Amino acid sequence: MKKDQVILGIESSCDETAAAIVINGREIAANIVASQIESHKRFGGVVPEIASRHHVEQITVVLEEVLKKADMTMADIDAIAVTEGPGLVGALLIGVNAAKALAFAHNKPLVPVHHIAGHIYANRLTTELKFPLLALVVSGGHTELVYMKEHGHFEVIGETRDDAAGEAYDKVARVLNMPYPGGPHIDRLAHEGSPTIDLPRAWLEEGSYDFSFSGLKSAVINTVHNAEQRGESIAPENLAASFQESVIEVLVTKTKKAAKGYGVKQVIVAGGVAANKGLRSALEKAFADNGEFELVIPPLSLCTDNAAMIAAAGSVMFEKGIRAELTLNANPGLDIEVFNK
Ligand code: KG4
Ligand code: ZN
Repeated sequence: MKKDQVILGIESSCDETAAAIVINGREIAANIVASQIESHKRFGGVVPEIASRHHVEQITVVLEEVLKKADMTMADIDAIAVTEGPGLVGALLIGVNAAKALAFAHNKPLVPVHHIAGHIYANRLTTELKFPLLALVVSGGHTELVYMKEHGHFEVIGETRDDAAGEAYDKVARVLNMPYPGGPHIDRLAHEGSPTIDLPRAWLEEGSYDFSFSGLKSAVINTVHNAEQRGESIAPENLAASFQESVIEVLVTKTKKAAKGYGVKQVIVAGGVAANKGLRSALEKAFADNGEFELVIPPLSLCTDNAAMIAAAGSVMFEKGIRAELTLNANPGLDIEVFNK
């Protein structure tokens, strides 16, 4: 019988310090996430220096906790997978250095992981992936359509030219005086209103799978300011519903078109915005009418940043023979396609 493959994953690219242990790339033995959201809330966004400081405080705590929860020691671990990038450099460095120290001290292989590959592989923790597949990646920093012909091979076929979807959500929430991160608040509010306000949809050139959300974000901000100047009030729930409808319509339409164009077997959703109830139900509806594609949406707990997804992606990278030296550095602008070989 083949021995189980046990991967320790470490994630610290933004505002969660996380460690997880995943068996055979699919089964979570333990998954610990220390969120810093409370510390960043009063600033209305993530403050990089504060994020780094929290990561330093939390990293050894989450690492000890994850081993304890999984009832394992470092002797049980086959490899250490860590987010190399993209993300905040000072935040990434804490995870990368912790991973390097563990790899050195326990003589374990070190596997570099792209954060978005992690978001994509969060889906493998619930469902086996079928290739070719299309991943809609919608997070705070990224909005991309990624085509995968096989495990560990990523081709970006479309991406945002300006704001990421989550970023647009957070900025619009700020204008509506909602706390950071605003995505879940807008989502909740949108369900109380109706899309009565006419807002733009950026379709871009015919055939393009790219996205653009800055025009929509500006339209929302202008709508609020113009109403204020005229002394009128706009129902925030209707504005939230209109904004959400515009974002979702573009995301769903382009995803469906790309799925057809590339003839994929599976469509998977990844990233923090995948937690959006409106997006989840619109995708379910859009893909329900034909049996052509299997739609996979991760459970809410695996949509936002965690280390189980890094361990899951790390498992595939480990099998592919991808290793990092102990000179590994954080790479805030890491390209996902560098892992294709
Ligand atoms: O993937 P993630 O945890 O971190 C990044 O890698 O960026 O995504 C965080 C983003 C934030 O912008 C947050 O507002 C958004 O995901 N988000 C949502 C929802 N839950 C989280 N956006 C819309 N609706 C939600 N329910
Ligand atoms: Zn993320």
